[in-house]
Amino acid sequence: MDGLRDVVVAETVLSDVDGQAGRLVIRGFTLDELVGRIAYEQACQLLLDGMIEDLPAPEAMRHRLGEARVQAFAEVVALDGALAKRPPLDVVRALMARLEDGDDVQVAMRLLASPAVFAAAAVRAGRGLAPIAPDPTLGHAADLLRMLTGAQPAPAQAAALDAYLVTIIDHGLNASTFAARVAASTLAGLTSAALAGISALKGPLHGGAPGPVIDMLDAIGSPEGATACLEAALDRGDRLMGFGHGVYRVRDPRADALKRTVQGLADASPELPGRLKLAEAVEAAALDILKRRKPNRPLNTNVEFYTAVLLEALGFPHEAFTCVFASGRICGWIAHAREQVLSGRLIRPSSRYVGPAPREAA
Ligand code: ACO
Repeated sequence: MDGLRDVVVAETVLSDVDGQAGRLVIRGFTLDELVGRIAYEQACQLLLDGMIEDLPAPEAMRHRLGEARVQAFAEVVALDGALAKRPPLDVVRALMARLEDGDDVQVAMRLLASPAVFAAAAVRAGRGLAPIAPDPTLGHAADLLRMLTGAQPAPAQAAALDAYLVTIIDHGLNASTFAARVAASTLAGLTSAALAGISALKGPLHGGAPGPVIDMLDAIGSPEGATACLEAALDRGDRLMGFGHGVYRVRDPRADALKRTVQGLADASPELPGRLKLAEAVEAAALDILKRRKPNRPLNTNVEFYTAVLLEALGFPHEAFTCVFASGRICGWIAHAREQVLSGRLIRPSSRYVGPAPREAA
């Protein structure tokens, strides 16, 4: 019962997380078979196939997602000065809440496109810059980077972000996906389900971890300082961000996929090799310390550690990392929400009352 660990609440054809073997399977493909081999649009097609009526064919997905970005951009008019002062995730959630609710392909495509469009606009608005309209002819990852900076990204940068979006597209019944399925099970509609998902994603124990990973790297500063700084953090009772997982008892396979992706970018920026060296030293020190201090609990690197290094290298400010996560995971939320509607029923668990008994009438 504790945090619903090991309680099976749904059957799914979408993804399987094997926490003992450190293996993630998405619709019959291992992560390694997908990352760097198919574009995010194709991964969306794979995940959503059979879940949404009239889903675009694989060859049409890129174009249709581009059109959907243009449609979602219409909502950016609501990003006023007051909203621009809020954290990017709050901005993205507020703009997503403006989208029409429902279960059809138009609603699904607009939702799929929306976190990327709104994340770029939120970052720019926070910097006092005007939003940049989508270019529907580009791939989703390349356009997200272009909407953020105003410049065409280098092919290696677009490919790295594309690999990231595929890596985090779906991951079993994590907290945000479960929240999306609960909302969907009431037949609330896809937009409501995605809003439940993004709200659950926000916290630092889930998708909010990579920003604090950067704070941790900055506080440590140099490889030599890693051990003392991490020991002090644990002495204070802090958790080391980017380590530990609710399901994996071995290394999160997504951490390796993202480490390879960020290593592939090392030539693209003069600062990145130094940052990577620091990250590797911090990772090694953290694993060593966690093994020593928590001998009964296998704690390994999770997806968020190299997510932080990668998204920083791609130019995202750390307060927007969770929005980029949402830009990929939105597809998983939609797929699970639809699967819940098609094959599940209202999710309504029970609780055990441990409060005071009612006073007997005198
Ligand atoms: N640093 C230090 N100690 C940790 C960490 C950590 N990162 N993670 C777990 N522990 C310890 C806990 O303190 C606890 O120790 P105790 O038994 O001595 O009290 C023990 O390990 C078990 O902790 P739980 O919270 O029960 O483990 P759970 O499986 O619920 O935790 C979680 C998973 C929330 C991800 C946790 O590992 C954590 O807080 N990690 C840091 C935040 C983070 O990286 N989040 C991103 C996760 S990936 C994602 O959601 C996309």
